[in-house]
This record gives sequence, C-alpha cells and structure tokens, in this order.
Amino acid sequence: AAEPLVLGIETSCDETGIGIVRGSTLLANVISSSMDEHARYGGVVPEVAARAHLEALVPALKAALAEADVTLDDLDAIAVTSGPGLSGALMVGVGAAKALALSLDKPLYAVNHLVGHVGADVLDDDAPLEYPTIALLVSGGHTSLLLVRDLVSDVELLGETIDDAAGEAFDKVARLLGLPYPGGPQIDRVAVGGDPKAIRFPRGLSHQKDMEKHRYDFSFSGLKTAVARWVEQTRDSGVEVPIADVAASFREAVADILLTKAVAACVDYGIPRLLLGGGVVANARVRELAAERCAAAGIELRIPPLSLCTDNGAMIAALGSQLIMAGHAPSTLGFGADSTLPA
Ligand code: KG4
Ligand code: ZN
Repeated sequence: AAEPLVLGIETSCDETGIGIVRGSTLLANVISSSMDEHARYGGVVPEVAARAHLEALVPALKAALAEADVTLDDLDAIAVTSGPGLSGALMVGVGAAKALALSLDKPLYAVNHLVGHVGADVLDDDAPLEYPTIALLVSGGHTSLLLVRDLVSDVELLGETIDDAAGEAFDKVARLLGLPYPGGPQIDRVAVGGDPKAIRFPRGLSHQKDMEKHRYDFSFSGLKTAVARWVEQTRDSGVEVPIADVAASFREAVADILLTKAVAACVDYGIPRLLLGGGVVANARVRELAAERCAAAGIELRIPPLSLCTDNGAMIAALGSQLIMAGHAPSTLGFGADSTLPA
C-alpha cells in the first residue's frame, strides 16, 4: 500500500501541535504555544492551557493543511495524543480528533504522548533508529526513561520523576534567581561563564539505597530546595549571589542526574542506543554531557532536531503512520483522555 497520509493532533500541555506526515515524511508541523500566557504564573496553568487549545486548534489545523498542500478529504487517518498530560488540555484535542474522524469517516488512532516523542525519530533525515533503544524524555511536564523494544508494540516505562519534571525544576530555580519564565533557556544563558563545580548540589535518588528501589526514577524537588536554601543563606550573610555559578552548578546537577540514569539503563539492558526528547534537550550542558557519556560508554546518541523534540503534532502523526504501516487496528471512538496513561 502507498504510505498513509496522517494528521496528528497534540494538546497534552501548552503546545497546540498539528502535524501532517506521509509515511515517514514530514509535510507540516504547526505549533501554537500558550507559553506566554503562563509566564506570570511561573508554570503551566491547566485551565489556561485548555482554553488556549480551543482557540488555537482550528487555525493551526488550517495552517497545517495549507503547509502540506492537502485537504481533510485527502487524509488516510488521524492520530491524537490521548495521554499522559493535563486532562482538560487533552480533552480539547481528543474531542476535535473524534469529531473529525466521525465526520470524515476516517480511522482514528489514540496514541501515547511519550511514545510519540520516540516516534519523532522516524521524521529525522538520518537512517531510522534501530530497536531496542532506551529513550530519555525530559520536558516541563515529564521526565521519563523508556525501554523501547518496538515503537508500535513494545514500550516499557522504566522510570519517571517522583516529584517535579526536570523542566519544571529549571523553571522554579530560574524564578528564585529572579529570571523570567520559561527558566530553562534563561539558566542556560546565565550559566555561561559560571563555574559548574562552584557548588555541589545534591543528585536526587542516586545514593546506593535509592538506587535499589528507584534505579530509573528521578527526583528534582530536593535539588530545587537545596538551591533555594543556598541562595537564601548567601543573601542572609550579605554576600551577593553568584548567579552564574549557581546556574552552572544547578544545570550540572540536572545533566548529571539525567545522563547517569539513562546511561545506567543502556548498560543494564545491554542496549547501545539512547534517544533524547522533550524541551529540556535544548539545554547546552545536557547535550554536551550526553555526547560525552555516550561516547565513553559506546552508546549511539540520537537527538532529533529541536522542533521535533519539543511537543508537536508531527511526532503524533508519525507514530500514527507507523501504527498503520504495522497493521494496527484503529481505536474505537469511545476512548477517553487518559491523563495518567502508562507508556
Ligand atoms: O517540551 P517542552 O517545550 O514542553 C512542555 O513541557 O510543555 O518543554 C518545555 C520545558 C520548560 O520547562 C523549559 O524551561 C524547558 O523545557 N527548557 C529548557 C531549555 N529550553 C527549554 N530547560 C533547560 N535548558 C534549556 N535550554
Ligand atoms: Zn512532551
């Protein structure tokens, strides 16, 4: 059969993403973010995100169709993120996808957001990833480690954050340093010139006893608290806070935690491949340390272009297209927006 033309809809967090792919070829990737509206709250506000999706979805859909130069009738199928994510936000995308599928009489595929991040790799120009692979997905909404034996049929969640997501930690630490939202790019910016060894911040869940129970899990709230306490004590003692050193040291701790766990998973399972995804992958030190640690351990490192790493509809469309090409049946239209769906 010819390669399927698939529309992907992503509304799990603050990005309204509409993507169109043909097989593994990217035709359109339109993203409308409500990031600015969340700035004054210092984090994503679920109700605000859901309302923004409602306003942005149809214009983004029209733009994507125009970009791909196709019509709704041309589509072979629709794929939509059904979870995990913010439930109100998910409902907007799922509702729209069902309405389209029903009215156009096209098959609908409900897909997992995290697996979608892995699916982004097929749109990359390079040769597609081989399986099995380990995937580390880090954004403002999730920090998860997956064992992907097969993209469309066998994905295991090895671990995830037990408190804040890594991006959330960046946003919170930026805020306490007086930097604007979103904090990740700001921390990256001010960390330049700072000494990453100036302050030794704690690496959550990496002690021997934690590693038994939480080998592949992450924790960032203790790190955030440690940074807050250090900054407060420094201020109280009348010394000016060395922002660059704090940012560099904090960023070093996050990168170290992420890569230590991801490389451990690769080594434990004997899998010499690591795929990164999510907005935190933009972090300069995370990228650098990933390259260093993977090279040292003989692990092939894959990082899709940033526009495919952050939340987007193209990765959802790509996963839908892979499901179709693997012969999977579509979803029945009764599925919900499952905000807690495991991988
Ligand atoms: O994947 P993404 O765009 O979607 C959501 O989580 O909604 O990720 C956004 C997150 C934010 O928390 C932001 O602070 C973080 O990714 N981020 C970064 C960087 N750029 C974005 N974190 C660290 N360093 C960066 N350069
Ligand atoms: Zn995501």
